[in-house]
Order: sequence, then C-alpha cells, then structure tokens
Amino acid sequence: MSKAYEIIDHTYDCVVVGAGGAGLRAAVGMVEAGLHVACVSKVYPTRSHTVAAQGGINAALGNMNKDDWRFHMYDTVKGSDWLGDQDAIEYMTKNAPAAVYELEHYGVPFSRTEAGRIYQRAFGGQSTEYGKSQAYRTCAAADRTGHVMLHTLFQQALKNKVEFYNEYFALDLIMDEEGACRGVMALCLADGSIHRFRAHRTVLGTGGYGRVYFSATSAHTCTGDGNAMVLRAGLPLQDMEFVQFHPSGIYGAGCLITEGARGEGGYLTNSEGERFMERYAPTAKDLASRDVVSRAMTIEINEGRGCGPEKGYIELHLEHLDPKVLHARLPGISETAKIFAGVDVTKEPIPVVPTCHYNMGGIPTNHLTEVVAPKGNDVDAVVPGLMAVGEAACASVHGANRLGGNSLIDLVVFGRAAAHRAAETVVAGAAHKPLPKDAGEDAIGRLDAVRHANGETKSGAIRLEMQRTMQRYASVFRDGPMLEEGCKKIGEVTTMLDDLQLNDRSMVWNTDLVEALELQNLMTQAVATMHSASYRTESRGAHAREDFPERDDVNWMKHSLIWVDHAHQAALGERPVHGYTLSNDVEPVPPQKRVY
Ligand code: FUM
Repeated sequence: MSKAYEIIDHTYDCVVVGAGGAGLRAAVGMVEAGLHVACVSKVYPTRSHTVAAQGGINAALGNMNKDDWRFHMYDTVKGSDWLGDQDAIEYMTKNAPAAVYELEHYGVPFSRTEAGRIYQRAFGGQSTEYGKSQAYRTCAAADRTGHVMLHTLFQQALKNKVEFYNEYFALDLIMDEEGACRGVMALCLADGSIHRFRAHRTVLGTGGYGRVYFSATSAHTCTGDGNAMVLRAGLPLQDMEFVQFHPSGIYGAGCLITEGARGEGGYLTNSEGERFMERYAPTAKDLASRDVVSRAMTIEINEGRGCGPEKGYIELHLEHLDPKVLHARLPGISETAKIFAGVDVTKEPIPVVPTCHYNMGGIPTNHLTEVVAPKGNDVDAVVPGLMAVGEAACASVHGANRLGGNSLIDLVVFGRAAAHRAAETVVAGAAHKPLPKDAGEDAIGRLDAVRHANGETKSGAIRLEMQRTMQRYASVFRDGPMLEEGCKKIGEVTTMLDDLQLNDRSMVWNTDLVEALELQNLMTQAVATMHSASYRTESRGAHAREDFPERDDVNWMKHSLIWVDHAHQAALGERPVHGYTLSNDVEPVPPQKRVY
C-alpha cells in the first residue's frame, strides 16, 4: 500500500522541537545569538502544557524573607532524595534569580508585594537556613504563572523571528552512521505533507509523558514524543521509575489544584476531620515534599479514612481563608473547583487525590543540556547534535522527586543554557554535511504502516488498557510481585498495537493518525517506566516499594538507564549520580535521612 512520499526539505542552524517554556526560551536565546532557528510544535505554541502550570517558579530572590540560592540547592538535593546531579542543581539554583528577572524584563506580569517586588509564596519542601524554617521562594502570577510565562515567551519568540512550524508532529530523529543527530522528520497536520529538518543542533523540548496514566494533571498532548524518538534512535532514557503524583488532583477529574493553595494556608483532612499530615511530617505538615504528602494521603485512603461515600478522597480546605486572598491569589483554582468538582471554595472543601503530574525521568543530559549516553567506558559521552530541555530531559535536577515550583525554573534556566551552548558550539550558517542516503525513510515507513493499520482495535481502546495497567501496577506504592505482573501485563498490552485499526477511510483524519503515533510513543515509555520500577529494589523519593521500604545508598545511589527496542524489549543499565558541584561556591550536600 505504501507510496513514494514527497519530502519537503528545510535547513536551519538549530531546530527546536516543542514550544513550551523550555523550547521557546531555547529558541529565543538561539536567535538572539544570531542563529537561524526553527521551532516545530504539534500544537499552536500557546496551547503547550506549560500553560497549565499554576503555583509558580522558584528562585531565591529573598523578597519575603532572607533567602540564598544555596538554601534552594539544599532543598532541591534533599527533595531529590539525593538522586539529583549536584552539578546541575547548583547550576539551576544559582542561575534561577537571573532567569526570573529576565522573565520579568521580557514582560511576565508577576503578582506584587506591597513594596512592588515580585510576590513569592510558600511551597512544599522549601526552607531557609538548610531546613530551619519555611521559605517563601515561589514567584507567582496569581495561580496562572505558566500561562503568563508561555504567552510572554511566545511574544518574545515572534518578536525575535523564530520560524514556527505549528501543528507539525515530529516523527523521528535523523541519526547518521556516526551516531550524531542531524535533524528531525515531521508531519504537517494541515495537509499531511512530510518535512525533513536538517540542523546542526536538534533540541527536544517535548515535555513529559503523563498520559501513560489513567488519571493525570497533564494535557492529553503529554505523550513524551521526544523521549520515544530517543528510544527509537537506540539511545537510553534515565530514571523512568520516578513519576510524581501531585497531592491535589480533583477527585474523578484529575485537574490540578495548585500546591499554592496549601502555600496560602489551605490544609488537608481525612474522613475523621483530622489534619493527618501532622502525624507524617510534624514540622512541614501540609507543606512537606509532594511524594511525602501523596503517600500519606494514599495510606489514609487505603486504611479506610478517605472521605465521601466510597471513602475515596481527601478534603482540601480553603474555606477559612479570606475571600480576598482567594480572589487575588487563587482565582484560577477557585474556578476549576467550581467547574470540575461543583465546589464553592469559600464554603466547602475540595475533594482531591494524588494524581500523576510530572516525570522526573527522561532523556539524560549534562548541565549544558547536551544529551549523553554511555559509549565504551565513557558513561557521560555526548551524543553529537542532540540536546534536550524541560520535562523531556533528565539533567538530573529533580532526581527521585521534584519540588513544586522547580519545573518552571528548570524550563527557563536550561532553555537558556541550551541557547548559550548552541551559541558557543555552532557557527551561524555553517555548511551541513550531506545527510545519510536513507535519511527519514524509517520514519516514513512507520507512518505508512500506521496509516494503513487494518486490525480490529481502535487506538483509544489500546490507550485505555495501557493507562489502566500503569495506574494499577505502577502507582504511588509499588511492590515486587505487582511490578513483575505489571511488566508481563504491559507486555501483553503492547501486542494490542499489532491489531490497531485505522483503516476506515471515510473517518481518518491526520489527527487520528497522530493519536495512533502518540499511542506508539506512550507505549514505549509505559514499558520503560514499569521495567525501571521493577529494577530498582529500594524506596527513594517518588518510588516507594513496599517490599524495600528503605533508601539504599550503598546499592542504589545511581541513575537507572533503559533502552526499549522496536519489539518493546527492555534492557537496563546504570549511570553514577554526580555528587560533586561545579564550583567552590558551595559544598555538595551529603546524604542524610530525609525528614520534613
Ligand atoms: O501545584 C502546582 O502549582 C504545581 C507546580 C509545579 O508542579 O511545579
């Protein structure tokens, strides 16, 4: 059935895939450095998932109380349960204030203090003086911080003449015989045309893969397309067992209620009306780190102290807060609670449950955003031409658990780092080597196979089976036999792809095609997460094993790596954690017991 496709060629210095906060920040910086840049995005840029980020962006500005980037670094290392790379964490926390001021100058309308400074709120797991008191470090624009950041960065990108290819779905990386990335193939959704982008640097800013789970705060577009392209290129992903469950997703709907709600004074209760977090985290209570709060909530529900007729949720109270505070600081979630839970937050609590929110794992990079993969004896060998930023990347600044507010700062600090690195290493307009003769053929072959899939099962049915499997076997708590069964079960689900149906010609749109391609992408990451979770026999951060309840620094202070081949077979490996810093400005944070 396959026909010869016409390929439309494009040549750039850099191509950025993804137009969320990280991709846009990278693209803007690259153009500012004089490079010719394309940005390929499967959605119109202002629909990228950064738009959904609510509570804020962390930087030790010290606008509310004394702060220091070293405290931010300490909290991030502790939050990561000592799996984060400390060189990258130093880089992020030290550069955070400059990155936030830059956003302010770009035009981000931050909320303000009485004195006119950027407003900063309390978020979980954050302290001053190395754990002594609660920090107020999360810079906020009400509860719409991601929204204003994304729109501002998009305006900057337009002003700087980044060349956008909107609603183009990236299919696969173009790799050469030497293992270098030479660009990316993409499908134009509007007319089905095939495009080959050749570039000296390809930057993946494609976001997370939250949609492998049934209940997620992530948009339906969060399908980890960059991660999947990396796996198909024969490269590994890192720390895929670490999936963050946010404590406050609306019960039944999954929509996010920002942690800022607790930062502004909200609290959680069980069916007995008890503020149970006092038992689990006596000091930080409701503002303990997310993994700690989500586990506590899950235990309360599992032990029969959940609320509602089915004892299935926990209640988040805001009704004691001044309505003026709710109006000024939390207008978005007040509206979300009304629409999705039928709750008036000035009068009643919001029903919430831990909900898949963020992927700490992803494409391994160094702190300069260059993708790394083991080569011979070099575990940190750079993959020439390939970079990754944002949630798609694993730098690794979040390690086993990300702190709230560290996602947005990761986007802009490392988006900026990617631009700096490209500016240092790419000569604008430099000639390109010829592409491999078959460049892009695999991608077209795969596209063609999906286009003509003539089985019996719709992609929606396969996706649902995958999501239920992930939710059941790789959720907040895990254990060995469950994970073993989960690996078997997800293996069975992968075979459903052989029966994919996409051949009802009267009904097939390019969006159907993309949905099926996204499903292929999700599936490889579901396999990666399940197998990585089964591999790591300890509990650390968001990976809580009931059969191995303790952190095991002797055997597991290391990153996991996973390769998943075309037949969904997984192979695992490891990479050391960087326990060192980049400069003498700060000492590495030595491992300690993690209590809040
Ligand atoms: O709760 C929130 O507002 C989410 C923030 C984050 O994930 O960083």
